[in-house]
Amino acid sequence: MVLCHGYGRIYCETYRIYLQLYIYELLNDGIFILIVFFRSKGRNYTMRHLMNPLDFTVEELEKLFDLANDMEKNPDRYANVCHGKKLATCFYEPSTRTRLSFESAMLNLGGSVLGFSSADSSSAAKGESVSDTIRVISCYADICAMRHPKEGAPMVAAERSKIPVINAGDGGHQHPTQTLTDLLTIRSLKGKLGGFTIGLCGDLKFGRTVHSLIEALARYDDVNFIFISPEELKVPDYITQMLKNKNIGYEEVISLDEVIGRLDLLYMTRVQRERFFNEEDYIRLKDFYILTKEKMKAAREDMLVLHPLPRVNEISVEIDDDPRAAYFKQVQYGVYVRMALIYTLLGLEQGGDKAC
Ligand code: CP
Repeated sequence: MVLCHGYGRIYCETYRIYLQLYIYELLNDGIFILIVFFRSKGRNYTMRHLMNPLDFTVEELEKLFDLANDMEKNPDRYANVCHGKKLATCFYEPSTRTRLSFESAMLNLGGSVLGFSSADSSSAAKGESVSDTIRVISCYADICAMRHPKEGAPMVAAERSKIPVINAGDGGHQHPTQTLTDLLTIRSLKGKLGGFTIGLCGDLKFGRTVHSLIEALARYDDVNFIFISPEELKVPDYITQMLKNKNIGYEEVISLDEVIGRLDLLYMTRVQRERFFNEEDYIRLKDFYILTKEKMKAAREDMLVLHPLPRVNEISVEIDDDPRAAYFKQVQYGVYVRMALIYTLLGLEQGGDKAC
């Protein structure tokens, strides 16, 4: 009897071939390894996933943002580049922006979309694992965006997937495409990434967008971080430790009023009700910060207010007409950057095809 224990795939850049390794066990007769090699259908294209914003180098991000800006300026040039390609959106958690902006991005590129928008409407409700689900989705689509309430679930999927997987938010951990959105917004509206003071305000403990953004901005020069939160919702230790290791200065304060006048960027976040164990704690903390017209009087004329949205009560609607309010522009940049990301991960710049 022969048991197959698994397989792995290595791409050889020099010869542009894949080596596929199978590990077999012959019962009572030891183990043997079978190596099969085959040519990539696409030229020079290696399949990539996006789990964390740091998966892209700063140089790769610059290229991605240039592409996103080009897509914004020249939509017709890209209107059919994904013709015949399909994006699967596998969302085990609620979403408006991330799922629909991914779908809008793929449609803008001439591709098609399929997927599910809640665990309950998929076979996860019957107990199917993420690993099995992605193996199935790999047969239906060319690329997948996945949101999951459990930290690391998209990573598990990526390990089993035959198509690129994008982490569209995993629990309280990371939200890399929101970070790409934030960075593109800052770069487009401020003209640079780095050389500014950013205040991050609200739920810095559970807010995954904040964790991803701090890690990403820590790679740019001269970024000063001011973390504004109640004691219970402070940024996690692994983030502050990372900043200490890189000798990047940061301040932690409770009062927004105290620091708002020093900020170039104010990144507001909502208190993440769904990650609280205790409803009483949520109710006590949910309105800790409310950005009002009165508070904005102390802010600089060129300070930008960002928010990943959804907003609950932390930014008064009276701010929406303030020219410094950039959160709805941010939503639009989210579409352009996801267009650029889909295009890049599908290897279309290199004339690539999915590697399976
Ligand atoms: N910013 C964001 O992730 O929004 P959604 O939860 O609506 O996708």
